[in-house]
Amino acid sequence: MIRLSAVKKHYRSSAKGELALRGVDLHIGEGEMVAIVGTSGSGKTTLLNIIGGLDRNYQGKVEVDGQDLAKLSDRAMSDFRNRRIGFVFQHFSLLDHMTAAENVSLPATFVRGKPPVENARARAVESLTTLGLSDKLGEHPNNLSGGQKQRVAIARALLFRPKLLLCDEPTGSLDSTTGAQIIDTFRALNAEGYTVVIITHEARVSEAARRIVRIEDGRIVDDGRAA
Ligand SMILES: Nc1ncnc2c1ncn2[C@@H]1O[C@H](COP(=O)(O)OP(=O)(O)OP(=O)(O)O)[C@@H](O)[C@H]1O
Ligand SMILES: [Mg+2]
Repeated sequence: MIRLSAVKKHYRSSAKGELALRGVDLHIGEGEMVAIVGTSGSGKTTLLNIIGGLDRNYQGKVEVDGQDLAKLSDRAMSDFRNRRIGFVFQHFSLLDHMTAAENVSLPATFVRGKPPVENARARAVESLTTLGLSDKLGEHPNNLSGGQKQRVAIARALLFRPKLLLCDEPTGSLDSTTGAQIIDTFRALNAEGYTVVIITHEARVSEAARRIVRIEDGRIVDDGRAA
């Protein structure tokens, strides 16, 4: 599902020669659930942004779902990202003036061609129902708990049934009980076949994954099964 070969990253604003990623080789197979751990500033978000095509300015080779990302035009990349990859972030990134269902169907408006928008609304309802939020369709994010907001964000990530979910500290703003429920949700999605990659600082979260990749100073220093 994901294959990185000798990936290096230098931020333009950084000192010359200072690399955020210093040659990363990584293979993640379809159906895996992988935690990415490491100290602050080690390169986790940089890595996830490159895998997700949010950052296209890197050296080396990145393939996702058989596609060499460097070969896509910017436009094709954004279509690829919208349809094939679901993103989940720490701060939910929901729009407060829209309902839960509107937030979930929003990505459909960024995608050219199919599916038509009526279809998007039906899918949004289906995604929210799967995540146990069928009674919150018309609710605005302000009226939802942190865990409910994150489930709305996950429902949005699932809108186009991507095979891959990329999550950057998805439990970072949640209390431990709610965080555990969100991790259960990711495990259930993984059991359904989604490939799940989660950046986390929390041991409980990484233990829920079957594989833990540790990054330090822009390099993978450990890649093993969870204890
Ligand atoms: N936009 C940017 N411009 C310049 N340097 C950056 C930028 N984003 C990150 N960096 C640098 O790249 C390195 C890796 O940052 P990254 O955000 O990937 O770390 P991280 O592992 O996600 O950390 P955290 O756990 O704090 O989120 C750091 O040294 C950081 O300062
Ligand atoms: Mg980060």
